[in-house]
Amino acid sequence: MPKNKKIRKQPKFLPAAQPTLDGNELKYIKECFKSNWIAAGGPFVKQFESEFAELCNRAHGVATSSGTTALHLALLAYGIKPGDEVIVPDFTFAASANCALHSCAIPNFVDADADYFTIDVNKIEEAITSKTKAIIPVHVYGHPADMDPIMEIAQRHNLKVIEDACPAHGSEYKGKPVGSLGDAACFSFHASKLIATGEGGMLVTDDADYAECARIIRDQGYVRGKYYWHEVIGYNYRLTNVQAAIGVAQLETYKKKIKAKLAQMSLYNKLLSKIPGISVPKTAPYAKRIATFIIISVEDSFGLTRDEIALKLKGQDIETRPVFYPLHRMKPYAPFASGKEFPIAEEISRKGLQLPSSLNLTNEDIRRICTSIAELRRG
Ligand SMILES: Cc1ncc(COP(=O)(O)O)c(C=O)c1O
Repeated sequence: MPKNKKIRKQPKFLPAAQPTLDGNELKYIKECFKSNWIAAGGPFVKQFESEFAELCNRAHGVATSSGTTALHLALLAYGIKPGDEVIVPDFTFAASANCALHSCAIPNFVDADADYFTIDVNKIEEAITSKTKAIIPVHVYGHPADMDPIMEIAQRHNLKVIEDACPAHGSEYKGKPVGSLGDAACFSFHASKLIATGEGGMLVTDDADYAECARIIRDQGYVRGKYYWHEVIGYNYRLTNVQAAIGVAQLETYKKKIKAKLAQMSLYNKLLSKIPGISVPKTAPYAKRIATFIIISVEDSFGLTRDEIALKLKGQDIETRPVFYPLHRMKPYAPFASGKEFPIAEEISRKGLQLPSSLNLTNEDIRRICTSIAELRRG
């Protein structure tokens, strides 16, 4: 190699999201191997259910194979049946609506709040019909939905409220943890989440009968104590002992992770708020938001679109994701939204970009991401 030729250092790849596995995860997985219990129903599952439920101030936890299956189970255990309607925000991950469709119920979409991106509580009541049975408020990108008015509307119309807290571990509403506010709540432990088991989920509730009903449906619909005898149509929605072992280890480092996430959010906010044309999401006075995913809105004044920024960052080894598309615009959901308009969801979706959000990002990585965005503006 010629003496003076400089080797250009390849910039470090910064992924959109990655789990943090720096505790006892491997140790507990080994315990599963030693005890030869890798399937569902093992001791780690029970431990994970009770410890996670306690974290949410709930009496019962029902571990599931994903957040999606937890949501489906939540509706099934409330007896949601074909033809029933479920109120769902238009701006959310598709699973919040799929669980209704999996139950052969109809998702009834409601537009988003412009400031917090959660369901617009002022538009819920007009969406309620005689067929409505439940509301699924979603704590979108970790911001708690405005639960008090939602619970009040639900009570007046005799509806069940299932919080979709899948991406909102650690967030609080008026000082109470999300997951403790509705009749039931569902969480995801996908690898991108603050508590990660690879895939996984949990339904939490205070109602013992409801939790037991959910467990039976989750566990193939077996009648308790009588193998292969089914009184209801069940599913296999179980979490394995190995996944739960990871979950138990993740809970041990949870407080540390929340602290690190708050520090990450604070540095991102400080740097991003200095970039003209970039806005960071607001937090309601009632909320403590733990942003599993860091998102920004790219205003028209920035001079590049959200997608153009994403492409340029990709060229610099910085991985981003668009935020959710409004559900009503996609083929499976459009038939349930005909004649309705969702201008706020459209606007949020057009501008929103998810930045790298893993806890293993260094401050230097975050500075690099924000500097790259700022430099794109200057052209
Ligand atoms: C709002 C929301 N609901 C549901 C889910 C589904 O969770 P899972 O991927 O564990 O099925 C997610 C996943 O990110 C989500 O963000």
